[in-house]
Amino acid sequence: MLNSKFTGLLDETKNVMKVFSAVYAEYVTRGDNPANVLKIKEDTLDLGSMPGNSILVGMLAAPINPSDVNQIEGTYGLQPPLPAVAGNECLGLVLRTGANCTTHKQNSLVVPRKHGLGTWRSAVICPEDDFYPLASVKPSEVDVGQMSTLLVNPCTAYLMLKELTPLKEGDVVSFNAASSQVCLHLTQLCKHFGFKSLAVLRDGKDFEYHREKLEKSGATWVVKEGYTSADIKALGVPPVALALNSVGGKSSEGLAKLLRPEGVMATYGGLGKEAVIVPTPKLLFHDIVSRGFWLTKWFKTHPDRVSEIYDTVSDLIVSGVIKADLKLMDWNNGEGMETAVTEAYKPTKPGKTVMIM
Ligand SMILES: NC(=O)c1ccc[n+]([C@@H]2O[C@H](COP(=O)([O-])OP(=O)(O)OC[C@H]3O[C@@H](n4cnc5c(N)ncnc54)[C@H](OP(=O)(O)O)[C@@H]3O)[C@@H](O)[C@H]2O)c1
Repeated sequence: MLNSKFTGLLDETKNVMKVFSAVYAEYVTRGDNPANVLKIKEDTLDLGSMPGNSILVGMLAAPINPSDVNQIEGTYGLQPPLPAVAGNECLGLVLRTGANCTTHKQNSLVVPRKHGLGTWRSAVICPEDDFYPLASVKPSEVDVGQMSTLLVNPCTAYLMLKELTPLKEGDVVSFNAASSQVCLHLTQLCKHFGFKSLAVLRDGKDFEYHREKLEKSGATWVVKEGYTSADIKALGVPPVALALNSVGGKSSEGLAKLLRPEGVMATYGGLGKEAVIVPTPKLLFHDIVSRGFWLTKWFKTHPDRVSEIYDTVSDLIVSGVIKADLKLMDWNNGEGMETAVTEAYKPTKPGKTVMIM
């Protein structure tokens, strides 16, 4: 549900407001710990001089993803020029539209159309094409935290299941780092599409929490990292059609070994900071495929499919098929950012941190 703050903002911008104060999280250098390099700045948005094709967007919520942190650290594949505003994902509300806007209406929900917009801020005036309108989602009914995560993890999970290799009902999909949000969505979607899922979870203090969560979400099998082929045989797991690797090293080798002939292993993350291992006999005799998947590139190379994917995946969120495990933190007009970033930066913490603006 929207909080009353934004209903108030909407009324004010509609009628009387000419200037609008916004705060944002800026970094001018890249460094190790985002909490140390991010600074809250204040800006005045002049509504009187808004270009005709621009919109004023009030941010409702913004997640903190590993890629946001990697961007600030300087280790991500896409780096905005400095100084930059942090954050790539959000759910926003259109508070005002310029005179020539064609795709947005006031009081409608929007998500970024691309990475790098700088979403950790209270409001922004930007070209209308920077945001995608979620036309079928009603502001009064939306779960703001859940919908704010649409762009990255739900779309990644959905596309990896739909676009990497043809899968039919009953096929097995495996994935490591199963405690991640992407894997939670993979589990939920596998159940929805009728695929079997093999979730590989590393040991740790939250192991039981994640195992229970995955099982409740429909995982067919949950195994601990370090499993043996005898364990897999005992569980009766058939050869795997699609393996989704976000760890590398021995963990990726384990996934590759379980692939069926011509099965596909896609690497979409490097959490273990080790090179991907693919056993030579699997390549040689089983002709398996090892490839990558990067959402940013997929959207760049499929511009004509952005609407279809956003609409399909937002429907899956609204209907509750996709449900993230969230830790909501108060942005508190920028003052809560450091606490939220520190929380998200902790090596183990159940749930994705989302700042509620
Ligand atoms: N390619 C793309 O387009 C794309 C898109 C979205 C996400 N990603 C990637 O997908 C991965 C997951 O993202 P997310 O947002 O879902 O993450 P997340 O919810 O923040 O969770 C990350 C999880 O990874 C686990 N982990 C960290 N290092 C690990 C390791 N060495 N071995 C096994 N598990 C490990 C952690 O488990 P513990 O609880 O045990 O610490 C943590 O639960 C990240 O690498 C991210 O960059 C890629």
